[in-house]
Amino acid sequence: MSTSLFDLTDKVAFVTGGNGGIGFSIAKALGQAGAKIIVGGRNSSKTDKATKALVGLGISAIAIDIDVTQEESTNKAFVEISRNFEQLDILVNNAGIAIRKMPQEYTIEEWNSVINTNLTGAHLCCQNAYQIMVKAGGGKIINIGSMTSIFGSDWVSAYAASKGGIVQLTKSLAIAWADKNIQINSILPGWIHTELTETYKTNRPKRYREIKQRIPQGRWGEPNEMAGAAIFLSSHASDYVTGTSIIVDGGYSIN
Ligand SMILES: NC(=O)c1ccc[n+]([C@@H]2O[C@H](COP(=O)([O-])OP(=O)(O)OC[C@H]3O[C@@H](n4cnc5c(N)ncnc54)[C@H](OP(=O)(O)O)[C@@H]3O)[C@@H](O)[C@H]2O)c1
Repeated sequence: MSTSLFDLTDKVAFVTGGNGGIGFSIAKALGQAGAKIIVGGRNSSKTDKATKALVGLGISAIAIDIDVTQEESTNKAFVEISRNFEQLDILVNNAGIAIRKMPQEYTIEEWNSVINTNLTGAHLCCQNAYQIMVKAGGGKIINIGSMTSIFGSDWVSAYAASKGGIVQLTKSLAIAWADKNIQINSILPGWIHTELTETYKTNRPKRYREIKQRIPQGRWGEPNEMAGAAIFLSSHASDYVTGTSIIVDGGYSIN
C-alpha cells in the first residue's frame, strides 16, 4: 500500500463528461496520480478520442457511453464498470450543460434538460456508485458545482438551481453515507476556459472582460487548475473531509 497521502495507485475513478473540458483535465490528473480511469460521455467518438489521449499519456483508461439524463443508460454504465473492475473508488459527477436565457423564456423541456443533466444525473450516478462503494468499504464522490452554487444569476436560472442543488445534495449524501466511509464533496469552479464558456469571449466580450476584472488573480482559469482539488478530494488526504465545497476561482467569489 502506498504511503503517499495523494497517491491513487490501484484506485478506479469514473468521470462523467470526462471526454472534454474540466472533466478531461480531472481524468488526466487522477490518472497521473495513479488511478485507472473510466471516461464517460454521450458522444462516443469524442469519448474514444479522449480515452486514447489518456492512454497515450501512460494512463490506464477505458471509455463508457453514458447519458446521465437516462436512468437506463446510467444503470447500464455502472453494470459495465462493475463487470470491468469489480470496484469503483472515485466518482466525479462532472457532466453538465447550461441554457442561457431569461427565466420567463425557458420551455419546460429546456428547464428539465438542465436539471436532469446537472442534478438528477448526479443523483443517479451517486445511487449507482453507492452500491459498489459500500461493498468495497468506502469511496469518494466529487460533485462539480459552480459559482452559481453560491450566487443567483438572471440568465441561467435553471443552471443556478441545479448547481445550488448540487451543494445540498453533497451535504445530504455526506450525512447519509458517512457511516459507510463514503466522503462526498464538491468543487466549485470559477470562470474556466472550456467549450461551455467559449462563446463569452466571442459573443459577449464586454461580459468576458467584466468577469476577468472581478477576478483578483486577473485572469480566467484553465481546466487543469481543478486538478489539485480533485486529487485531494479523491485521496486519503481528505479522509476526514465530507460535505464541503472547495472553491477554485482565482478569488472571484470573495471580490
Ligand atoms: N467552464 C466553466 O467556467 C465552469 C464553471 C463552473 C462549473 N463548470 C462545470 O464543470 C462541468 C464541466 O463543464 P465544462 O466547462 O468542462 O464544459 P464542457 O466542455 O461543455 O463539458 C461538459 C461535459 O458534460 C458532458 N455531458 C453533457 N451532458 C451529458 C449527459 N447527458 N450525459 C453524459 N455526459 C454529458 C459532455 O459530454 P458529451 O460531449 O459527450 O455530451 C462534456 O464532456 C459542468 O458541470 C459545468 O457546469 C464549468
